[in-house]
Amino acid sequence: MEIVICPDRDKGAAIAADIVARYLDRLQQPILGLATGSTPKPLYHLLAERHHRGELSFRRCITFNLDEYVGLTPTHPQSYRYYMQQHLFDRVDIDPNKTHVPDGLPADPAVLRETCRDYEAKIAALGGIHLQLLGIGANGHIGFNEPMSSLASRTGIRTLSRQTITDNARFFQRSEDVPRYAISMGIGTILAAEHCLLLAFGDRKARAVAAAIEGPLTARCPASALQMHPYATLILDEAAASDLQCRPEYDWAAANALGTPGTNNF
Ligand code: PGA
Repeated sequence: MEIVICPDRDKGAAIAADIVARYLDRLQQPILGLATGSTPKPLYHLLAERHHRGELSFRRCITFNLDEYVGLTPTHPQSYRYYMQQHLFDRVDIDPNKTHVPDGLPADPAVLRETCRDYEAKIAALGGIHLQLLGIGANGHIGFNEPMSSLASRTGIRTLSRQTITDNARFFQRSEDVPRYAISMGIGTILAAEHCLLLAFGDRKARAVAAAIEGPLTARCPASALQMHPYATLILDEAAASDLQCRPEYDWAAANALGTPGTNNF
């Protein structure tokens, strides 16, 4: 694992933007895996700004998002499709037909399962994801793969935890509208990406980050599966790094690194 500890989240987002920009620049058809949530917002903002200044283009890029709620229309303000349009897709020159967010709208579980299989097949047919962005939950989840998810799982339907449903209730007028399910790439899907780039900011993430990096490889902390990934870069701010026991090792490795963070693939 490549551990990059930054003074604050703005610096972390800037390093992440440099990594994404490199994929966009260097590859003929960059395939990005994208994440939602509060963590990648400053990264998407920087990418949109760089695009606006004419410094980078998403024209050749294909994207696959990690997850989507079941039952929300793409125009629902809580849907991840809506989030992506707002924070990135509507602000850059990406071809809308090349953006993929799982379609969680069909009510029939058989159709949803078909959607999940198609999503995996589409990623595979394109040769896989080059760079997968990730956040981490305070409980160590990645995508909607909550603790105890299979570490080999593929894109599928996930039942949201009671905690997640309770947390989300504030975003919906009626409790019966709060999604109970999501479609999520599996941990196996995530591990198949060539390069995983996980961002974590704030002390709320400190325990999960320490468990993911230094804890045992365990389904209790789904992000610990990244220990088995050949190339994972984790960008943390000081607060998210505050529970790490081996900090001097990461500082030494960073100070003596060959090249800039996240550039081993080039
Ligand atoms: P957050 O969520 O970026 O809103 O903290 C991250 C996650 O739960 O994966």
